[in-house]
Amino acid sequence: MTVEKLRFGILGCGVIGPHHARAIAGLESAELVAVADVIPELAKKLGSEYECFPYPSLEEMLSSVDLDAVCVCTPSGMHAEGAITALEAGKHVVIEKPVDVTLEAADRLLEVQRVTGRKVAVVSQHRFDAATQAVHDAITSGKFGRLTSGSAEVRWWRSQSYYDSDGWRETWELDGGGVLINQAIHSIDLLQWLMGPVDEVTAYTGLLSHERIEVEDTAVAILKFADGTLGTIVATTAAYPGLTATIAVHGDRGSAIIDDDELRYFHAAGEGQEGEAYGASGGENQAEEIMERYGEVESATGAGADPGSLSMAHRDQIQDFVEAVREDRVPSINLEEGRKPLSIIQGIYESARVGEPVRIRELERQG
Ligand SMILES: NC(=O)c1ccc[n+]([C@@H]2O[C@H](COP(=O)([O-])OP(=O)(O)OC[C@H]3O[C@@H](n4cnc5c(N)ncnc54)[C@H](O)[C@@H]3O)[C@@H](O)[C@H]2O)c1
Repeated sequence: MTVEKLRFGILGCGVIGPHHARAIAGLESAELVAVADVIPELAKKLGSEYECFPYPSLEEMLSSVDLDAVCVCTPSGMHAEGAITALEAGKHVVIEKPVDVTLEAADRLLEVQRVTGRKVAVVSQHRFDAATQAVHDAITSGKFGRLTSGSAEVRWWRSQSYYDSDGWRETWELDGGGVLINQAIHSIDLLQWLMGPVDEVTAYTGLLSHERIEVEDTAVAILKFADGTLGTIVATTAAYPGLTATIAVHGDRGSAIIDDDELRYFHAAGEGQEGEAYGASGGENQAEEIMERYGEVESATGAGADPGSLSMAHRDQIQDFVEAVREDRVPSINLEEGRKPLSIIQGIYESARVGEPVRIRELERQG
């Protein structure tokens, strides 16, 4: 039996829109039928590459072609607006990260999603990486014992010309902040997905090496998770020449380090084995053995050096979204999930602003 393909339109044909196009083209269960951008040449270029119709606006795309779903790939502060228009037209929606730049916008979206009953996924493609899945499984099955600490470190470099090159990035209105919300949100989302809900955050932010931007290029934060586990975030685009993005999680029976999406270190105590008194060099690195079980996936983190060099990491998430629509289930990363890293980031900004700890739980959506 042939199942009809889910018909997609893409809104926004800049850097990330073409990655959605490639991801959709790589799926048997989906097809790209239209693209839209306010810059007609960008829509035409992407449209001709994928043999689909280009439109100058979301409204024209929606009224001209029969779509099941829309990928929202516009600047971050325009996500809710585009997604709400698509939902109200009866479409399912994939929204690029962040869900939007304010919690109020995220909550407006949640309300419209509830009323329309359509499916919404928020992109956090690295949750689907084999290394992330392996560490998540180890934690949820108790292999690392009681979690004790975790960290997310993004030590990247962006030149001044990067910041000078575009109008919407690094503005509060359309980017919602700097390195935290634009670059480090992936690592922050993974840290909270692996470690659990964050209760409280204390943070500092600074604009330390760039000029003429409104927002931070460096941030550090201390986290207290709901179960008492402790964590840190270091995020910067001012670490020349640009290093890797690392997530480390530690428990009293195991630890893991993911470095640029690859599992660099993994060790879990064996069944019935006490946590041993290893030296400072740690126990045997079981990463290779674990990854043989999970299978290697194409790494997507060229992003550290070049935001245009993303791979097909979006494909797995869009596939999950297509299956969610087909099976009438919630996508793995729904709006509530997409809101979580945003509430942590908003808490970090607030803590840096007021100079006090901020309770994230209070920023969480009630009910
Ligand atoms: N998941 C990831 O790894 C990843 C990577 C890069 C960007 N992103 C996210 O994707 C989003 C877009 O980023 P980008 O780098 O592609 O930006 P971009 O500026 O390159 O592309 C955005 C496009 O949207 C178009 N646009 C703006 N307003 C529009 C409107 N009203 N209707 C139609 N088109 C409109 C612009 O003309 C532009 O071509 C951002 O939210 C960003 O955070 C995610």
